[in-house]
Amino acid sequence: MKITLKQNSNIQNVDFNNLKFGAIFSDHMLICKYKNGRWVEAEIMPYQPLPMYPGTQALHYGQSVFEGMKAFKTDDGKVLTFRAEDNFKRLNTSAKRLCIPEIPKEIFMEGLHEILRLDAVWVKAGDNFSLYVRPFIFASGQCIKATISDEYTFMIICSPATTYYQGEMHVKIEQEYTRAAKGGTGSIKAAGNYAASFYPTKLAREQGFSQIIWTDAKNHEFLEEAGTMNIWIRIDDALITPNLDDTILGGYTRDSIVQLAKDMDMKVEERAVSVSELHQAHQQGRLKEAFGTGTAVSILFIGSITLGTNKMILSKQEDSFAKRLKDRLVAIQHGKYEDKHGWTTEVLSSLTPQ
Ligand code: COI
Repeated sequence: MKITLKQNSNIQNVDFNNLKFGAIFSDHMLICKYKNGRWVEAEIMPYQPLPMYPGTQALHYGQSVFEGMKAFKTDDGKVLTFRAEDNFKRLNTSAKRLCIPEIPKEIFMEGLHEILRLDAVWVKAGDNFSLYVRPFIFASGQCIKATISDEYTFMIICSPATTYYQGEMHVKIEQEYTRAAKGGTGSIKAAGNYAASFYPTKLAREQGFSQIIWTDAKNHEFLEEAGTMNIWIRIDDALITPNLDDTILGGYTRDSIVQLAKDMDMKVEERAVSVSELHQAHQQGRLKEAFGTGTAVSILFIGSITLGTNKMILSKQEDSFAKRLKDRLVAIQHGKYEDKHGWTTEVLSSLTPQ
């Protein structure tokens, strides 16, 4: 792999205590092109603008997929990836659905590890810190016919992160707009899925909500996701999250929480949850907690859920399941609790400067 190092790092200009999510990038990026039917050798270079023609296909038809994953630093200076193999697989599942050629595992993994080795100082130690890693592939051929491209670019860029949202979320149940429909692209990380969510989310923000709870496209009857996160509710002592189908993105934080909840002897149900079940549970005082899970946010508490004009307030729980699960997840990610499921992989074994 060709590597061109950045001469002067920007890191000393970054205020790590006031990071805006996704707005600052680490020193290096990985780039790999697909041409003439094959992926050519990957290259790492200083983070920089891309030369691009206006006819670049991804700009017109959105043939573009991405992943979101994180690297963490342990107290003794090791850099750990979390569920990288799963993110790699999901990137290719997304790619396949949009007719993008799959990225070979060695390009993804070697590129990921090399960039994390080079930018290890950007992974800060501490429970609130991580380096958000964004692998993505876009159609980089030039043609404005609505057709499958024959050239693609795979990249990895990294952004230091603390918390995604400040505080807890106040959400509304969306009963007009739809995120995903059966047979569509809701279960993959297609760039356009996110673009399509911006307008309804903007409307919700103007009404004072922080996010939307998406419901099914047919009758707006079943809960699907919370903004860009998987949704969870706790009724009595049962943790419930919608079962995965082709309208729900199967998050790896969701999957990890399902497993951790079982490890911690909590009752977990992956099944359809209707708006009326949620409403009824709240009226009966049985709706104890609600939260979202996602790579960017980890676990984010929901403080209220509004259905039409009815605001369901969720009061703080002494024994919050979400808090216990978040603490366990964060401990595993930072190497402080035994990783029984083999989710973390060490990138560096030597001490790296802070
Ligand atoms: C993630 O949690 O990684 C996501 O994909 C959400 C993204 C829009 C920041």
